[in-house]
Amino acid sequence: MWPRSLNPALKDWNGRRVWLIGASSGIGAALAAALAAKGAMLALSSRREAALRGVVQPAAQPIILPFDVADPVAWEHAWTELNKHWEAPDLVVFCAADYHPQRSWEIDPEQARHTVETNLTSIYYGLHYVLPSMLKRGSGGLVLLASVAGYMGLPNATVYGPTKAALINLAELLYVDLRSRGLGVYLVNPGFVQTPLTAKNDFAMPSLQTPTQAANAIVAGLANGRFEISFPSHFTRPLKWASLLPYRLRFAALLQLLRLA
Ligand SMILES: NC(=O)c1ccc[n+]([C@@H]2O[C@H](COP(=O)([O-])OP(=O)(O)OC[C@H]3O[C@@H](n4cnc5c(N)ncnc54)[C@H](OP(=O)(O)O)[C@@H]3O)[C@@H](O)[C@H]2O)c1
Repeated sequence: MWPRSLNPALKDWNGRRVWLIGASSGIGAALAAALAAKGAMLALSSRREAALRGVVQPAAQPIILPFDVADPVAWEHAWTELNKHWEAPDLVVFCAADYHPQRSWEIDPEQARHTVETNLTSIYYGLHYVLPSMLKRGSGGLVLLASVAGYMGLPNATVYGPTKAALINLAELLYVDLRSRGLGVYLVNPGFVQTPLTAKNDFAMPSLQTPTQAANAIVAGLANGRFEISFPSHFTRPLKWASLLPYRLRFAALLQLLRLA
């Protein structure tokens, strides 16, 4: 018998300890505000300390842990600092990302390295620190912010897209690895959301969501214990279906979609 939901349903946030990494703007900041309003205890990370301090009301008393996720030594310091407050988080949200729209003939190798380290390598640094204590306790969850750009190769996402495809793959294997050990793994694949990240796009973004809409969709998906949380579904579902087609049809569908966008 298949379970109704693949993950534990996260409905009661009161006192739940959430480490949100990439929380100073956009989706991460909106999610922090939504979870604080529901009574979660928050640790907030990104590089910009001043921005992190303005994300939720001081009354929520978030732990502010500024660091650069692309730096493995900084991860060690952040984890040591977090451990002064919490032995292990209940939920870790990997939300930090770097994005530079560029076509394949515009690659900047140094920028590409930085994007891969921020979006993908950093998750391995983080897992190295958070997993042992979460596994020891046998409960908790990991949330990976990937993207529909990971469903299939989309022009402009030359470096970003492959990092998000890798995160989808990683979330799948983490789920299989960790579910029997009591941990939930939640994969978030948003469509377009209006944030500093997408402000770099010079093309029309269909079905653009606000960060608050994105945060609400994520909270709803977590409450339903979904493995994949993707929104808005009228935009993301056709992309997902297109990604399942044989290549001949997939490329034709993609070119059609891009013409419509
Ligand atoms: N917006 C969209 O349409 C969209 C669609 C699909 C997926 N996503 C994903 O959703 C997540 C949030 O994106 P967003 O749109 O909300 O973008 P955003 O507003 O630019 O937020 C990115 C966050 O990552 C942090 N960050 C970036 N580099 C970092 C580093 N080296 N170390 C630590 N923190 C770092 C930023 O803070 P600092 O600058 O303070 O470090 C910021 O808090 C990302 O994973 C993104 O790929 C977004």
